[in-house]
Amino acid sequence: MTTGHVFIAQSLDGYIARPDGAIDWLMSIDTAGEDHGYHDFISTIDCIVMGRGTFEMALSFELWPYDKPVIVVSSTLSSADIADHLRDKVRVSHAAPRDLMMELSRDGFHRAYVDGGKVIQSFLRDGLIQDMVITTIPVLLGAGRPLFGDVHRDIHMKHISSRSFPSGLVQSTYNVDVTVS
Ligand SMILES: NC(=O)c1ccc[n+]([C@@H]2O[C@H](COP(=O)([O-])OP(=O)(O)OC[C@H]3O[C@@H](n4cnc5c(N)ncnc54)[C@H](OP(=O)(O)O)[C@@H]3O)[C@@H](O)[C@H]2O)c1
Repeated sequence: MTTGHVFIAQSLDGYIARPDGAIDWLMSIDTAGEDHGYHDFISTIDCIVMGRGTFEMALSFELWPYDKPVIVVSSTLSSADIADHLRDKVRVSHAAPRDLMMELSRDGFHRAYVDGGKVIQSFLRDGLIQDMVITTIPVLLGAGRPLFGDVHRDIHMKHISSRSFPSGLVQSTYNVDVTVS
């Protein structure tokens, strides 16, 4: 089955966006000259699975930011909601996480970048995330959209590595123990 992989930034208090979805706090840190590994990561990825919230954020960018096929999971969007210029890049799926990963596997996708807090949470609960690279930004937001949420049982991680950057970003990589999830 297609495996899920996370590469995401969070505030020190665990949020990936402000309550209204804004990520200005991510852009306000001076990280000039630092390579946080996104390009190496994305080069290993075959497709991107994202929630409607993350899709809506991506639509606000001046240019479409992805050069891999994007699957938007949503119960409210349909393919008719995808703008013409994105039709060959984006499709909407109503499938449940495990069904979607089986479908992607049949389509020949091996590794999916799973993005968006709620979607990551549901894929984690279903044991569909293999590893996570989490970059922590040294800022407290006080409120926002959380990276993690409810779990039905403990989900154990194996810590692989951590590194820090002059900007203060701290990046940790974990393998998810899917045998207990
Ligand atoms: N810090 C970062 O690195 C980073 C990365 C990515 C995104 N973001 C930010 O995070 C925000 C989006 O994250 P989010 O947690 O609010 O939303 P999200 O996970 O991107 O999207 C959640 C939505 O996806 C749909 N969905 C369909 N199947 C689902 C499933 N199995 N599990 C969960 N959701 C499912 C639902 O919408 P329907 O009602 O349509 O079904 C749900 O409300 C944006 O503001 C974006 O700016 C930050």
